[in-house]
Formats: sequence, structure tokens, C-alpha cells
Amino acid sequence: MTVAISINNVIKTYKEKKAPTVEALKGIDLEIKQGSFFGLLGPNGAGKSTLINLITGLCTANSGEILVFGKSVIKDSLFTRRMIGLSPQEFKLDSFLFVKEELRLTGGFFGKDSKYLKAKIPLLLKQLGLSEKANAYTDRISGGMKRRVAVAKALVHEPKILILDEPTAGLDVELRQELWDILIDLNKKGTTILLTTHYLEEAEHLCDTIAIINDGKIKHIGENIKTDTRESSNLVKLYKEHTSAS
Ligand SMILES: Nc1ncnc2c1ncn2[C@@H]1O[C@H](COP(=O)(O)OP(=O)(O)OP(=O)(O)O)[C@@H](O)[C@H]1O
Ligand SMILES: [Mg+2]
Repeated sequence: MTVAISINNVIKTYKEKKAPTVEALKGIDLEIKQGSFFGLLGPNGAGKSTLINLITGLCTANSGEILVFGKSVIKDSLFTRRMIGLSPQEFKLDSFLFVKEELRLTGGFFGKDSKYLKAKIPLLLKQLGLSEKANAYTDRISGGMKRRVAVAKALVHEPKILILDEPTAGLDVELRQELWDILIDLNKKGTTILLTTHYLEEAEHLCDTIAIINDGKIKHIGENIKTDTRESSNLVKLYKEHTSAS
């Protein structure tokens, strides 16, 4: 068994002048196996995006260690960043670029050459139902389409690990279902996926493993036990147990 992401006793505190200190992560231990579809759930402010920012090197921890395929996200950041594709919770697209140019730019950041990108981008656009928008400016497409472009940007360099921070927020039912199918397919083909979502039914449908984080601490890690009916959802019960009145 290969471990894709290993998080060891990670503490993250935000300290800013004139603002109260925030202990966002209070000692996190987590292991995400290669090939897993891993759901990270928790209420607003629990620390999900902070943890993702640490894994992807967007901010640094006060203490502890994060390894991606055994390599440190600090010391071997060039390697670990190449392994990961990130669709952040909040993202900005360049309004002066067409959708296809936005993807080309991102691919270029990952060192992909024009021959690779010429073949990859049309495929990716097709896969995400964006072919008709290839030559549209990124600010002229709908919010849901923008979200799809963000997912496409995360996939352009064919990462081994895909991290999606609330990728379906604001998507309509149809787009969400289509994205689910794409993610299931990617995972079947070997991509390790780390997903955060506030839609419990989404996590229940997609994930094989669930972690629940609350107030900067991991409250639960375990296999996702799928249930058939909404009322008796195992995950809804677990979530309420670990997040209410804390
Ligand atoms: N750059 C920052 N500076 C100061 N505090 C921050 C910063 N980013 C996050 N925080 C604080 O850290 C805590 C965790 O925030 P985080 O964004 O990780 O939560 P989250 O679980 O992703 O929440 P949500 O579900 O709302 O996206 C919150 O108290 C938040 O206010
Ligand atoms: Mg967040």
C-alpha cells in the first residue's frame, strides 16, 4: 500500500496584528492512501481549506510534517506540487483569456510543452463539457462553467492527486452529476482524490474514506459506509455526532 499524503501532527496558527490569533489546526494526523477517494468534511471554519493550503504549499505549518508520496511539501516542493492538481475553494480566472488559453497557461506553469497541450486541452474541454466555450472569455461563461474550468485547470498536467475544495458549490443538479461521473472515472483510473464538500450525500456517493474535522481537530476517520435512504444515512448521523454543539 502506497501512501499518497501523510500528515503528521500538523499545527497551524494564524497570527495577525490587531486580529485575534486563530488556532486553525490543532495537531492533525491523517493518512490518505494512493487510489483513495477521500472526503474531508466539517463545518465552516473547521480547518479544511487551511489543511489543503498546507498540502499544496500555499501556506506553511507552525509545526508538524506533510509528505506527498514520501517527500516533504517544504523541502521537495517542486516534486510534491507536480504530483497535485488543485481546484481551490476560491479561484480567479484571467478575464483577458479564452477558456482554452487559461488552460494552456496553467499547463505551461507545470512545464507542459505545446505539443502535449495541443492534444490534452481539447480532450479535457470535451470531458468537462466545455468544448463550446473553448473560445469564450473566462468572464463570459456561467458560474458553474467557471467552476468546471477550475477543475480542468487542476487536471491539465495529469496529476496523480486531485484536490477539490468544494468543487460542486453552485453547480446545478445536472452539472454536479456529470462532475461526479468524471471524478468516479478518474478515481477508477488511479487518481487519488481529496474532496471537501458540504453536501453529505455527495461525499457518501463518491468517497471510500471519510474524515470529519471540527475546530481544527480530526474527530473521525473511517471507511464510508454507504446507505440507501437519506433518513438512515450513516454519514449524516456521524457528521451530527462529531460537529454539533462543540
Ligand atoms: N489567511 C487567514 N488568516 C487568518 N485566519 C484565517 C485565514 N484563513 C483561514 N483562517 C481562519 O482559520 C480557520 C479555518 O478556516 P478554513 O478556511 O480552513 O476553514 P474551512 O473548514 O475551509 O471552512 P469553510 O467550510 O467555510 O470553507 C477559521 O477560523 C478562519 O477564520
Ligand atoms: Mg474552506
